[in-house]
Amino acid sequence: MLEFIGVSKSFGAVTAVKNVSLRLEPGELMAILGPSGCGKTTLLRIAGGYDTPDSGTVRIGGRDLTRAAPEARQVGMVFQNYALFPHMTAAENVEFGLRMRRVPKPERARKAAEILSLAGLEGIGERKPAALSGGQQQRVALARALVIEPSLLLLDEPLANLDRNERLRMRGELRTLQRRLGIAAILVTHDQDDALALADRIAVMNAGVVEQVSTPGELQRNPASAFVAGFLGLAE
Ligand SMILES: Nc1ncnc2c1ncn2[C@@H]1O[C@H](COP(=O)(O)OP(=O)(O)OP(=O)(O)O)[C@@H](O)[C@H]1O
Ligand SMILES: [Mg+2]
Repeated sequence: MLEFIGVSKSFGAVTAVKNVSLRLEPGELMAILGPSGCGKTTLLRIAGGYDTPDSGTVRIGGRDLTRAAPEARQVGMVFQNYALFPHMTAAENVEFGLRMRRVPKPERARKAAEILSLAGLEGIGERKPAALSGGQQQRVALARALVIEPSLLLLDEPLANLDRNERLRMRGELRTLQRRLGIAAILVTHDQDDALALADRIAVMNAGVVEQVSTPGELQRNPASAFVAGFLGLAE
């Protein structure tokens, strides 16, 4: 579904992502777990086409799309802190990906209305992000990613700005929706509870490197390094 092969990316003297190879299976939900600054967002942006790696290959659905633009990929992305366009209404935000793909206006409006209702956002399409709660903004961001009917969903800390109750509810909704749509997803988080609760497999990153890729159970039973054990708070 998605394959990183030896992907590296530096910003000046900082190597954000170092020789990462990962493979996401169809329908799989993989969490990328690691501390602040370890390269999670950079890796996700490379998958979405918002950054280009210095070396290595990104394959999506078997095709080399390393240098393809975001709108040339069937990939939906929920950005860290949602990154909604503040001057656009919720509905315009949701339509954005369709506009980039030159979908005609009536079809855009129909699809946006459909997905807004699926996300439980009826009646707020005309509001701008500043007039929405954190949870509502989160849903708009998710609707914006899903409206293009992606084959791959990228979620960058989608639960980070929610209070505890909302967070637990959205966790469940995310998983249900991802299963129902049958799409593969990567969920970036620095919260191990989210990763353990949601993921089929977890990739643990440290300083740009993927240290271990395992199921949640395997990760807890057999951490591959002192870093992984320490990050998960396990005694060695
Ligand atoms: N555009 C950029 N210019 C310069 N440095 C960058 C840029 N983007 C990321 N970096 C650096 O690359 C490293 C990885 O950043 P990245 O945003 O991928 O981390 P992250 O794991 O998502 O962290 P967080 O959990 O805080 O969101 C950091 O040292 C960061 O400062
Ligand atoms: Mg980040």
